[in-house]
Amino acid sequence: MSTFSYIKGLGFHVPERIYTNTDLEKIVDTNDEWITSRTGIKQRHVVEDETCHDLAYEASLKALQEAGMEAEELTHVIVATFTGDMPIPSTSCLLMERLGIKNIAAMDLSAACSGFVYAVEVARALINLDPTAKILVCGAEVVTSRVNWEDRSTCVLFGDGAGAAVMVAGTGDESGKILDTLVRADGNHGMNLTVKGGGSAYSYKAGDTVGVENFVEMQGREIYKHAVRSMTSISNEILKRQGLSIDDVDVLLPHQANMRIIEAVGKKLGILREKVFANVDKYGNTSAASIPIALADARESGFIKDGDLVLLATFGGGLTWGSSLIQF
Ligand code: ACO
Repeated sequence: MSTFSYIKGLGFHVPERIYTNTDLEKIVDTNDEWITSRTGIKQRHVVEDETCHDLAYEASLKALQEAGMEAEELTHVIVATFTGDMPIPSTSCLLMERLGIKNIAAMDLSAACSGFVYAVEVARALINLDPTAKILVCGAEVVTSRVNWEDRSTCVLFGDGAGAAVMVAGTGDESGKILDTLVRADGNHGMNLTVKGGGSAYSYKAGDTVGVENFVEMQGREIYKHAVRSMTSISNEILKRQGLSIDDVDVLLPHQANMRIIEAVGKKLGILREKVFANVDKYGNTSAASIPIALADARESGFIKDGDLVLLATFGGGLTWGSSLIQF
């Protein structure tokens, strides 16, 4: 009997402070009508003094609790993020320390908004190597730390938060079975979506002033087209690889970047609108945290029910994209 990876527990956490579209009208020249009609976003959660690993910690506690596991049982911690607390130590090491555990593997993974699905793929490979592995996979971001609050074309899009999943091996048909995962990238178009500052090619000297390169810069239209194309094609590819059709899917759960993108992907895939999960209106785009927040939210709210086949589709900077099929 072949070994599969299972999601045993899910959890998410967002900071308390909320910026509504109306709040943003006081910061940049924008308005609720523009943001709502172009993106579907109504509000986003923004940190006050929490760090990335604080958010990851709260989400992880919930995922561990749902899995019925203690942190001491974990063998690996993976945090997908591009807005970790600091380059060194990694956010996964900070998270481990906070969870009160040591002497296990910890690493951060950088694939922008696709980071969580990439981390799931890495965890699946680790579980195949060692079926006793118990892996905490987290997507955690303080995207607002990398947002230029003077750039209305980007600052309205993002929010902060974290989502976490506990992954273990199994063989049966219990809930959370990951049937397949696919991840892809294309560096040719990477410069359409950048955060350059702080990287070694854009490093600062003591006393330098931070410029716009420190923040998200984006060719919105290019990214929009890539997002729709890539999420649609990888979803079709993973379904084909599993001998399934879109009619077998109970829930499509896409990266929560923009409602227009989410609806366009659903339409191209030919899935009923009521099967498509969206919470971008409440949280905005939380990058690598978006998929695990959406998964945990959809499970908690009953949108994903026992027995449902869930299709994840994601895209992000790099450019990167990916998909996963999970049987709950
Ligand atoms: N409020 C009011 N007006 C605005 C705002 C704003 N917040 N932002 C831009 N505008 C103006 C522009 O200045 C422009 O005005 P002009 O015509 O006078 O020059 C006008 O609105 C149209 O701007 P566009 O950029 O052409 O607007 P578009 O319809 O393309 O929508 C958007 C922009 C929403 C960003 C869209 O391109 C998009 O969704 N792209 C994908 C972005 C995305 O999802 N990124 C996530 C990437 S991060 C990740 O997930 C990895």
